[in-house]
Amino acid sequence: MADYDVIIIGGGPGGYVCAIRCAQLGLKTAVVESRSTLGGTCLNVGCIPSKALLHASHMLHEAEHNFAKMGLKGKSPSVDFKQMIAYKQETVDTNTSGIAFLFKKNKIDHIHGFGKITAKGEVTVGSDVHKAKNIVIATGSEPSTLKGVEVDEKVVVTSTGALELGKVPKTLAVIGAGVIGLELGSVYARLGSEVTVIEYLDHITPGMDKETGKALQRMLKKQGLNFVLNAAVQNVEATKTKAKLTYEDRKKGDSVTIDADVVLVATGRKPFTDGLGFTELGGEMTERGQIKTNATWGTNIDGIYALGDVIVGPMLAHKAEDEGMAVAEQIAGKHGHVNYGVIPGVVYTTPEVASVGKTEEQLKEEGVSYKVGKFPFMGNARAKAVHQGDGFVKLLVDKDTDRILGCHLIGPSAGDLIHEICVAMEFGASAQDVAMTCHAHPTFSEAVREAALACGDGAIHA
Ligand code: NAI
Repeated sequence: MADYDVIIIGGGPGGYVCAIRCAQLGLKTAVVESRSTLGGTCLNVGCIPSKALLHASHMLHEAEHNFAKMGLKGKSPSVDFKQMIAYKQETVDTNTSGIAFLFKKNKIDHIHGFGKITAKGEVTVGSDVHKAKNIVIATGSEPSTLKGVEVDEKVVVTSTGALELGKVPKTLAVIGAGVIGLELGSVYARLGSEVTVIEYLDHITPGMDKETGKALQRMLKKQGLNFVLNAAVQNVEATKTKAKLTYEDRKKGDSVTIDADVVLVATGRKPFTDGLGFTELGGEMTERGQIKTNATWGTNIDGIYALGDVIVGPMLAHKAEDEGMAVAEQIAGKHGHVNYGVIPGVVYTTPEVASVGKTEEQLKEEGVSYKVGKFPFMGNARAKAVHQGDGFVKLLVDKDTDRILGCHLIGPSAGDLIHEICVAMEFGASAQDVAMTCHAHPTFSEAVREAALACGDGAIHA
């Protein structure tokens, strides 16, 4: 007899959401998690703590740069970094304990420890063997390592160490101009660090719509971040308190060495499958070390499913959450589904950047004939009133049918605004559908409508 209908290995956004939906569908469910708290990387050392630090440092930036303009005069606040880190930890703790509460409410067992699949339908944790009809692997990802760079989480850190520094470094070198590098680079630049971002490619944020990426780089530069592009980091030598970073200038071929108090390695993440026991049972992996799954998230071993960062697709908490719900429904005999064409991506810098669907580069490559409707936040009254007129909404639509194919937003609340377009895309809407929808005035969302109007007879305020 099985102890459970489902055992999920990993309590991050993919795993815990899957567990809650399994329980709601009447399945006896347990989650094996080795961290003392639930929530995985996202809640403990990723999305949530970084958002707390982004918020606090943004407040400081506002006080230093915008308060006086609004007639709010006085001394700027000074930074008590220990208190800021404590605030960050409190944010994490309230969120992780919230998940523990949801587990109790839904009668989900949290099995503490490291889970290993020891046979079909069997997960071993320490010396305890648990039987389940179905096993879901939701073990997430870990930072990728870089040859010649040894992480000590003190001087040479990953995002985990960057959220726990003892003090604000005078100089911070960031390897990689991806999402993590830019978000955490922004935090420390606002707190006073001199930040240099070193990127292998000739542009930042690979995969992002190029025009939007360029606008982001210009805005971050204005905020004091330095960028070195076309630079391959070869090696980092760390002492107890400092580091020497050497990169190759890919255009000139020279080797350049810079000093930094802290080096943040943000060169991507890789699926975490160490000690899982999946391959030992004959489980199939992709060439990139991901667990191979079929259209319903099943692996080649009957009764074993996988989801989230450990399988193919963008490493995003919300993609994992959607898969979590879908897998639960599949196990319960329903028809769980994820539309991978409508997964938004957000970079939580200031301004935020958000995108969904195709980029202009992808449409060109695919030979799709498209129209661009663009509207600058400078033409949006609300954005101007709050000093956030930098940025734009860019809508990409099919030239013949007007159907929305993609949207790229850089500006205030971009991460929230994008969802209007996500819903529109899920309904197969045209730009005209959005343009004909009344939007409240004065809101940032009017800029989205104006971009939709720009796909037709023209925006009003441009
Ligand atoms: P990333 O893949 O976004 O960016 C890594 C960057 O490092 C790339 O631009 C790459 O060209 C560069 N790079 C690689 N090797 C290099 C070298 N030797 N020298 C110089 N540059 C080098 O990876 P990142 O930022 O570490 O994020 C990891 C994952 O976490 C991503 O999948 C991301 O989507 C996810 N994430 C998402 C967030 C969000 O949705 N807001 C926040 C944080 C992470």
